Amino acid sequence: MHEQQGEIETHDAKKSSPAGGTSVQVLAPATVANLVCGFDVLGMCLNEPNDLMEIKLLDEKKIVIISADGYPLPLDPAQNTAGAPLVEMINELPGNIGFEVTIHKKIKPGSGIGSSAASAAGAVVGANYLLGDFFSKQDLVRFAMFGEKVASGVKHADNIAPCIYGGITLIRSIHPLDIVPIPAPELFVTIVHPQIEVRTSDARQILRKEVLLKDAIRQWGNIAGLVAGFIQNDLSLIGRSLEDVIIEPVRSILIPGFDEVKLKCKAAGALGGGISGSGPSIFMLSKDEQTATAVESVMKEIYNKIGLAYHTYVTTINQTGVKIINN
Ligand code: HSE
Repeated sequence: MHEQQGEIETHDAKKSSPAGGTSVQVLAPATVANLVCGFDVLGMCLNEPNDLMEIKLLDEKKIVIISADGYPLPLDPAQNTAGAPLVEMINELPGNIGFEVTIHKKIKPGSGIGSSAASAAGAVVGANYLLGDFFSKQDLVRFAMFGEKVASGVKHADNIAPCIYGGITLIRSIHPLDIVPIPAPELFVTIVHPQIEVRTSDARQILRKEVLLKDAIRQWGNIAGLVAGFIQNDLSLIGRSLEDVIIEPVRSILIPGFDEVKLKCKAAGALGGGISGSGPSIFMLSKDEQTATAVESVMKEIYNKIGLAYHTYVTTINQTGVKIINN
């Protein structure tokens, strides 16, 4: 919590919103977790796609979830990725304050581009706006991680943190929370989402619990190389460091066409890429839009040949995270 901030008036939540409004709309963006080598510690925010959410202040201590498009989301707040963080948030607020959240789900659950994180981050950023920024960004990540717990059984912040902070973030630790924003170069991102669902909990279950020291050495070399590459805007170093010797060999078997996509996208000029989060989406980074579009064509060609439905996006790195669009 921001120490200097005053009490929230509790008997009339509508008057108490220092932001002056009682409802707000937010765009909650997709994110790419892991960035290949940085399992659970690196993530990047995207400009497309986004969930659209509307958050309203209530003068009762309760959370109401509405799925706008009839999308089959759990409506019990404790079981909903937007609801669980808000339950935690209102428990830290005095008096009778609650929220109603309407979710227009555009980021498909189980796609690997941070669907659950978008709902969780959008809800807490919107709610905090209505509270006049009562909580810090770090508090918001702490609350939003309860949404990830609902979705995958585990608290991880590598989608949540970039969704809230924007850009690229390093989660140095979650106990205690230590989030380090990393300067993000002006790169283009191509995503292909083959239309199969991979549940994060399943994709975590299949991972080996132990790693060989030689693999760990290679992995932390790549993580450090990738972070240095981003900071120095060294595209060749970024490309060389997009290598994962621990997670990808296990998870890639869940994604039809993965090896071919990776090989041919790099041949088409991508700097590199791999599984987005826990998959099945695959992302590739490119230095310009022309290359990113050529990479998209390669992805389309491969999934047309395989005969698997897919969706593609060509987008850029979102430097600001969840966006307030109207209040
Ligand atoms: N780091 C998490 C995982 C991200 O790979 O399981 C899930 O989106």
